[in-house]
Amino acid sequence: MALPSYRDVSTACPDPVTPQTRPPFEVTYNRQETHQACKETMTDKQLLIVAHAPSPNTQRLAEAVLRGARHPDIAGVATRHIPPLEATPNDVLAADAIILGTTENLGYMSGALKDFFDRCYYPVLEKKQGLPCALYIRAGLDGTGTRRAVESIVSGLKWNWVQEPLTCRGEFQEDFIAQCEELGMAVAAALEAGII
Ligand SMILES: Cc1cc2nc3c(=O)[nH]c(=O)nc-3n(C[C@H](O)[C@H](O)[C@H](O)COP(=O)(O)O)c2cc1C
Repeated sequence: MALPSYRDVSTACPDPVTPQTRPPFEVTYNRQETHQACKETMTDKQLLIVAHAPSPNTQRLAEAVLRGARHPDIAGVATRHIPPLEATPNDVLAADAIILGTTENLGYMSGALKDFFDRCYYPVLEKKQGLPCALYIRAGLDGTGTRRAVESIVSGLKWNWVQEPLTCRGEFQEDFIAQCEELGMAVAAALEAGII
């Protein structure tokens, strides 16, 4: 199921967290997310998913991470997915943990995720050291170049890996969905428990 654009979301629901000043095309949310944002409290931990999802399969992976993070048993964690081309330094500054998602393209992370790092690296560098971080990669063949590249940038940012990077490699398997859901759930549960 494709995520409808923010434009499709009812504005009847005041949302103190989602910046309403953004142009409608800037951030992709789904209805569930906006609804959840309405229920957020000031004490909720903020889990940010910055995932590039250019195909139906990768869209399903991003949705699985989001679903896992929003497991009904997890309370006190507000999770949002923002595509990397639209995520801003302020989104990172507001986050208590981050899950990165990317395809592997030409042996490297997607240009979209690289653009996110290019724009956000210095604005968050001093303020977000230790940010709990996880990564999933969708790679048709390999994934190692992407993992190495993201690890190198994350190391520069001094973010803190809280899960082994997940590589969904080869022909698409339904099991990838469960793995991504588990990843989202694990990070959100750790955030809820105050372990990370
Ligand atoms: C231009 C292009 C370059 C790609 N380069 C790589 C690559 O270097 N290594 C790899 O494992 N997969 C590569 N792929 C495959 C993508 O990672 C894969 O198609 C993408 O993650 C989407 O997954 P899906 O086909 O299951 O939707 C490439 C795909 C495209 C379109």
